[in-house]
Amino acid sequence: MALVPVLLLALFFSLSVSGNAHPKVPAIYVFGDSTADVGNNNYLPDVGKANFLPYGIDFPHSRPTGRYTNGYNGIDFLARQMGLRMSPPPYLSLPKNTSNRVGVNYASGGSGILDSTQGNKTITMTKQIKYFATTNKSNIVLSKSIFLISAGANDVIAFVLNNTAPSNTQIERFCNTLISNYKNHIEALYNLGARKFGIIDVGPVGCCPFARRLFNHSGACFNVMNDLAVGVNDDVKKMLSNLSSTLKGMKYSLGSYYAALSNMIANPEAAGFKDVQSACCGGESLAGCTRTATYCENRNEYLLWDDIHPTQRAYEEAVLDIYSGSPPFVTPINFKQLVEE
Ligand SMILES: *[C@@H]1O[C@H](CO)[C@@H](O)[C@H](O)[C@H]1NC(C)=O
Ligand SMILES: *[C@@H]1O[C@H](CO)[C@@H](O)[C@H](O)[C@H]1NC(C)=O
Ligand SMILES: *[C@@H]1O[C@H](CO)[C@@H](O)[C@H](O)[C@H]1NC(C)=O
Ligand SMILES: *[C@@H]1O[C@H](CO)[C@@H](O)[C@H](O)[C@H]1NC(C)=O
Ligand SMILES: *[C@@H]1O[C@H](CO)[C@@H](O)[C@H](O)[C@H]1NC(C)=O
Ligand SMILES: *[C@@H]1O[C@H](CO)[C@@H](O)[C@H](O)[C@H]1NC(C)=O
Repeated sequence: MALVPVLLLALFFSLSVSGNAHPKVPAIYVFGDSTADVGNNNYLPDVGKANFLPYGIDFPHSRPTGRYTNGYNGIDFLARQMGLRMSPPPYLSLPKNTSNRVGVNYASGGSGILDSTQGNKTITMTKQIKYFATTNKSNIVLSKSIFLISAGANDVIAFVLNNTAPSNTQIERFCNTLISNYKNHIEALYNLGARKFGIIDVGPVGCCPFARRLFNHSGACFNVMNDLAVGVNDDVKKMLSNLSSTLKGMKYSLGSYYAALSNMIANPEAAGFKDVQSACCGGESLAGCTRTATYCENRNEYLLWDDIHPTQRAYEEAVLDIYSGSPPFVTPINFKQLVEE
């Protein structure tokens, strides 16, 4: 008796995962933090999760999935542009070692470029890459697949929380360590067959409600955090340019959440936002976006969903800038060109 529903469920799943009939890439592999996680953290014991309402309130069927926003995140919108229905599924949700036709998402909320950033709670970047190395990729052309990485914000936040007035020397040391780790991660993926990288930079984290509240009594953005994000992003840009001239066949596109979100903050009306400063969910409370938090009705008019993460609407806008846009939103080519090259 149970067999028929199980078969139907399996059919439904295979339809919904492949969804669109014309994926433009063989597969998408995703690495990074809560801006990219689509449910891996649901499987971890000791980490901040987003698998309860009101997270996911605007996802199909109002389903909380572990995405750290009210609906789809930026990776979902990028995947849709590439002809998938949404991000590939979270690694920890997959049956062991079946080859997945659309790719895999290894991202883990709270993780950083540095393994020391919440390293024993999350799936570190090193471990995400290790998981990729042992993933069954039979029948997938890796050289034409897209490798998305959205990371670095948690490293910046952790560094500034530990030292709110860092010296130039301390900043330089931090940036050098961060960049050399990032370079190692990208080289590791290259050595495993990756060629096309879609990298997303660190957004204006100093403008998140938590940073405004903690560090700027006027309620404006916390410049120390934003300046560090800008510094890190500049170094990532140089590092990628350097790497692509030494790693044969490497192609990349660097999308800027920093430019896209800063632009929305500076010109809210242009994108139809009414509030680019406060959190839709839990905005009134220090506890943040909890199960019992109140949340705004007009979610499409808010840039920020919770204390730190953009709304689905903001992600969608940012991805338009990154996928088919131009500098400063995306360099040296856009994601569409990366896919089509
Ligand atoms: C990898 O996946 C393919 C296709 O699903 C399957 O036939 C094969 O047995 C898998 N390989 C391993 C080692 O599990
Ligand atoms: C977790 O990481 C912290 C900081 O890196 C370290 O001090 C601590 O010993 C680690 N805990 C475990 C259980 O590994
Ligand atoms: C999964 O299968 C691949 C071969 O397709 C193999 O190389 C890899 O070691 C396997 N991973 C695990 C965790 O069993
Ligand atoms: C915190 O900052 C101090 C300098 O202010 C530094 O010595 C220490 O290593 C930092 N700790 C971490 C975990 O980054
Ligand atoms: C706080 O905001 C004001 C107004 O925008 C700005 O001039 C100041 O530099 C900010 N302070 C910090 C610590 O970021
Ligand atoms: C890029 O390469 C130049 C020239 O080799 C070097 O001076 C610079 O430090 C490199 N920068 C990064 C971020 O790798």
